[in-house]
Amino acid sequence: MSVVDEIKARLDIVDIVSETVNLRHSGKNYTGFCPFHTNTKTPAFAVFPDSQSWRCFGQCNEGGDIFNFVMKREGWDFPEALRHLAERAGVILQEFTPEEQEQVEENDRLREILSMAVTFFQHQLRNTPAGQAALDYLYGRKLTDETIDTFALGYAPDSWEALTSYLTSRQVSPEDLINAGLVSEREDGGVYDRFRHRLVIPIRDQQGRMAGFGGRVLREEDVPKYLNSPKTPVFDKGHLLYGLDMARREIRMQDQVVIVEGYLDVIGPYQAGFKNCVSAMGTALTEDQFRLIKRYSRRIVLALDADAAGQRATLRGLEMARQSMDREGELFFDSRGLMGIEGRIKADIRVTTLPEGLDPDEIALEDPDRWAELIKDANPVVIHVMETLAQREDLDDPKTKEEIATQVLPLIEDVRGSVEREAYRQRLARLLKVDERALVRRATGRPPRRRGPYRPAQEPAIDVVRTHLAPHRQLERGCLLALLSDPTLLNFVDRAFRGFELGCIHFEDFSHTDHRELFKLVKESIDQETEDPLNFIHTRAPVEMIEAFLENAPEEKYPDWRIQSADPKLEALLRMFIRLRRVRIDEGLDQLVFLQTQEEDEPGEIMLDFKKTALDFAQARAKLDQAFHQSFSKLK
Ligand code: UTP
Ligand code: MN
Repeated sequence: MSVVDEIKARLDIVDIVSETVNLRHSGKNYTGFCPFHTNTKTPAFAVFPDSQSWRCFGQCNEGGDIFNFVMKREGWDFPEALRHLAERAGVILQEFTPEEQEQVEENDRLREILSMAVTFFQHQLRNTPAGQAALDYLYGRKLTDETIDTFALGYAPDSWEALTSYLTSRQVSPEDLINAGLVSEREDGGVYDRFRHRLVIPIRDQQGRMAGFGGRVLREEDVPKYLNSPKTPVFDKGHLLYGLDMARREIRMQDQVVIVEGYLDVIGPYQAGFKNCVSAMGTALTEDQFRLIKRYSRRIVLALDADAAGQRATLRGLEMARQSMDREGELFFDSRGLMGIEGRIKADIRVTTLPEGLDPDEIALEDPDRWAELIKDANPVVIHVMETLAQREDLDDPKTKEEIATQVLPLIEDVRGSVEREAYRQRLARLLKVDERALVRRATGRPPRRRGPYRPAQEPAIDVVRTHLAPHRQLERGCLLALLSDPTLLNFVDRAFRGFELGCIHFEDFSHTDHRELFKLVKESIDQETEDPLNFIHTRAPVEMIEAFLENAPEEKYPDWRIQSADPKLEALLRMFIRLRRVRIDEGLDQLVFLQTQEEDEPGEIMLDFKKTALDFAQARAKLDQAFHQSFSKLK
């Protein structure tokens, strides 16, 4: 049994949901108010113990299993949900090697020490005269006590050894103080406090574990303006985003993240109710950070100050930016790099330019509507560059036109979607008032897609124990196994589905979160061009998710779907996916019937057009049945 199965077998979705939702028994199922959207009148949320699933028939119209429930509730990604639920279920995930175990314990100890430092700094802020000055500074920046406590802001006293002696008296060794990045070493071997007379901002990783500090000067003449923790085993700026632990839930809920420049640019908007901001802490955004973010949402808005957004949009600015990549203090804006990342991680990256001289914290706190407006008006990178360039130049000058086109066209060429690309070209033509044909560049000579056939890296394990799984789980696994033998089979299935007007296969055709996640990877793998699809999947899928599939990797190969023969194996494959969709629809219908009975018992609570929903289901089912019975040879 896979780890996921094991966990599902040991935990009950009703228990987990009941922790936050007041559930009412109703026949063999349960109903309640959906925890994922504000609702007062309509308990359109149901939990089905039989299938161990949940569904909201209201605003969210979403459902799933125990995994995606806690993912949504806590803002976790799948591996995190897996870790937590495994722990609750008493399932052991993975054995660490002794060295790894040691490192884990060492890191835990460092985090512990950092947490002790947080307590110390908070105490200094609240209970000392010097701290009071720092507190007043925060009040001056319009932050409330609640916000200050939420972000655990503190004050590092103007002393070389205050923190050192506090922690030393609590049995922390100088070596650990150094490793935690809290002190610096003297020539004579002693240590002294790293943060002195600074406002300190605890930095946590996305799971809320302490990682380091940012310290802001309180005397404007002090340098640097912000002193951060040095690189330690638990603090690496390029892999962290400040505020993600606080923001990730909201990021998931809104399906949007705003990347701002500074610490206080996260805190200010948070207090104003915009809780989806994170900060790259003033350095160039790394691809790692983008990947981290993408786990929570692919819709990314960069809030750039006027300077960064403007100058850097120009070619010269870009060059300068490249050279100053290591310089701290500015969000690095490299439009071409962003486009590359956008394509690679399949994100939607937009840019919004902040008004001259204003930071997000000031805007959000003083004029929240304006902040909302700025985020709403964010433009795709290409449009942003176009418009920024156009603003500063005389657009009637032919040489200027040529220059702008030279800068923008390479960006347009980088866009993957042909429709999107064409739209940008049209927009540029309009902006420059030139004929669009003048903007078509010669072919770029991109290398052709490389898609070698899959060769299994290792023989499937022998003596696979066939476990007893819920039939649906088995069916879902069958579909995934086929796709894992060759991800490009999905193209074949999707094409056939479209032929039947059934849309494409969607992750929601699967009911188990691990299957959904794996399916999303399969889809991503064939939408990208840089890696072999199977490598792509194997390097990204969490071990626990894919191990069970590897064990059962099919020995038989599906034929190449591009060969248009009426192959019985492909037909069987297609039917498997039709059944997959059919199960979803049947399940939806069952649930609908349940809800309708509810409604009859207590009229007026559920605002759902039963007739229409039922009709939709029925139509989809009819199409599926028709597809199922149509002979394969009729497929185009
Ligand atoms: P800013 O100079 O824009 O500061 O640096 P800020 O965030 O607006 O701070 P306030 O509002 O003046 O208090 C943006 C970010 O760059 C990093 C910090 O993360 C800062 O929040 N930074 C800046 C450093 O790490 N070191 C520095 O010396 C300066
Ligand atoms: Mn600022």
